Amino acid sequence: MNDFTLLITNWYRQNKRTLPWRETKNPYWIWLSEIILQQTRVDQGLAYYNTFVEKYPTVVDLANADEQSILNDWQGLGYYSRARNLHFSAKIIRDQYKGQFPPSFDEIIQLKGVGKYTAAAISSFAFGEKQAVVDGNVYRLLSRVFDMSTPIDSTKGQKAFQELADALITAQDPGLHNQAIMELGATICSPKKPNCDQCPLNHMCQSKQQNTIFERPVKEKKTKVRDRYFHYLVFHCQNETFIEQRTTKDIWQNMYQFPLIETGMKEITEEKDFWKSQVRESPQFLHLLSHQRLHVIFHHFDTFPKKTKPSWNRINMGDIQDFPLPRIIDKYLEDNSGLF
Ligand code: ADE
Repeated sequence: MNDFTLLITNWYRQNKRTLPWRETKNPYWIWLSEIILQQTRVDQGLAYYNTFVEKYPTVVDLANADEQSILNDWQGLGYYSRARNLHFSAKIIRDQYKGQFPPSFDEIIQLKGVGKYTAAAISSFAFGEKQAVVDGNVYRLLSRVFDMSTPIDSTKGQKAFQELADALITAQDPGLHNQAIMELGATICSPKKPNCDQCPLNHMCQSKQQNTIFERPVKEKKTKVRDRYFHYLVFHCQNETFIEQRTTKDIWQNMYQFPLIETGMKEITEEKDFWKSQVRESPQFLHLLSHQRLHVIFHHFDTFPKKTKPSWNRINMGDIQDFPLPRIIDKYLEDNSGLF
């Protein structure tokens, strides 16, 4: 073991958060946790992880479940393609691997929704394979400790950071090394308030010496964020309403929503006769995704429109929870239950 591994793993043993996916070598459970944690904070992901492990204890249980029920259990986590990819890959494992989780990095990375980071995490945690993880936490930690200014979103940077991570990991317990570096990055070497006093690497941290901590990591491009304006039409009449299924791949694929008018601007310009019967308009809600800013308004009507679209389903308001709903709609229903 090198000094780096020794320092971070000793720190990790004493300071790690106890989390259920760290107490198991079950590759399927570890995979579940990694997919859930891809775009979700640990405290939020925990409950979902427990639900999935309980409801679909084996990969074959997940493969045999229907997609709607998986999406329902995923509700609130967002980025629903993660759930669809989990289901798709579970079926591959059931059918092509006889229900046995593939035990190597090279096979795991073939699964849909699994990239280099996730394959390295699963293969090292569950099977002890020497594969170094590089996630956002690791980029930040390495760029600071070694004061690296190569942009992490450039091909050159990605190669340089992966090579550095590969050089640091040792064969003795690669899973432990990976957990330790990620945990240190997540809890001590945080973006805005790094706790350098408590860091086991502070004596060797080059960006601390160079006073560049807040300039690391360097990014080449600013993330482009797209503004979208969603106007939901809530027709509520005799305790019935209309919902439609989203089919586009942009967000929330296959989930249900109120009929939508999307505009590229704040104002809605579409002339429709039903606007006359609008009885209420919600404030504008902001829903932030990694590359999109959704501005959402709910428009209420207490009559049904003369013309409807074939894609609209007329349902009983009481049945709406049987459909997978994006979090913003679910939350709106929850916060406005008095209206329905
Ligand atoms: N984020 C991604 N993977 C994680 C893990 N195994 N433990 C804690 N946070 C994580």
